[in-house]
Amino acid sequence: MSKVTLNTLHAYKKTGEKFAVLTAYDSTFANVISKAGVEAILVGDSLGMVLQGSDSTLAVSIDEMVYHTKCVVAGNTCALIIADLPFMSYATVEQCMINSAALMRAGANMVKLEGGDWLEQSVAMLNERGIPTCVHLGLTPQAVNMFGGYKVQGRDDNSRDKLLNDAQVLEQAGASVLLLECVPSELAKKITEAASIPVIGIGAGADTDAQVLVLQDILNIPEGKKARFVKNYMLEAEDIPSAIRTYAEEVKNGSFPTSEHCFT
Ligand code: KIV
Repeated sequence: MSKVTLNTLHAYKKTGEKFAVLTAYDSTFANVISKAGVEAILVGDSLGMVLQGSDSTLAVSIDEMVYHTKCVVAGNTCALIIADLPFMSYATVEQCMINSAALMRAGANMVKLEGGDWLEQSVAMLNERGIPTCVHLGLTPQAVNMFGGYKVQGRDDNSRDKLLNDAQVLEQAGASVLLLECVPSELAKKITEAASIPVIGIGAGADTDAQVLVLQDILNIPEGKKARFVKNYMLEAEDIPSAIRTYAEEVKNGSFPTSEHCFT
């Protein structure tokens, strides 16, 4: 596979081809994932839970994100790298600029921010300065304390209308990609159809342009109960690379997710 760029993802949006995204936090897994045909790697602040053992992402620092982004970049072959701006590292436009620059210097190709229309100015500023953005909407884990838990968003009229509006405002501000987490499938379909930029989903149904999952979740580590939208790819796989290859194939041919992974 040749190096995946923003143009590649935008071309997929035009042709309707689906693409796969998976998290990674180190060079070994970044190497395996990029060779398995996954188009984009997310260096997620989920590392706070997956690597550091916290019960949220709130304690992750920008220095930790820079460190893990460098590790992932070192092992990557051809995937596009998206790096998360952690909690409170983009509370002001100036902080957003300084911390996004740090992630780009570490080798990221795009930064991800969680929020809604309040990000309009930051997204426009990054866009003008040559930093592509992925805006994370719906269940934004950095706001878990506002939501009172990890709950499906967009179920009532107000939050549904707000999500539709946020997506539109942020695309207009210059966002390159949207990410929808834990929203009803019908709403995700509507947002995806209205957007001219790619929409990545997690727990957002089968109609988004791409899917993302957390690496450790698809490998079923640690063993135990997982969120509804997770599929255990180790069940039928011989080894980790083949589990990741199957994930990428199933996203691209539309056989993942199925209704059992979705919210209505
Ligand atoms: O941090 C992360 O891994 C994420 C995904 C769950 C989308 O934001």
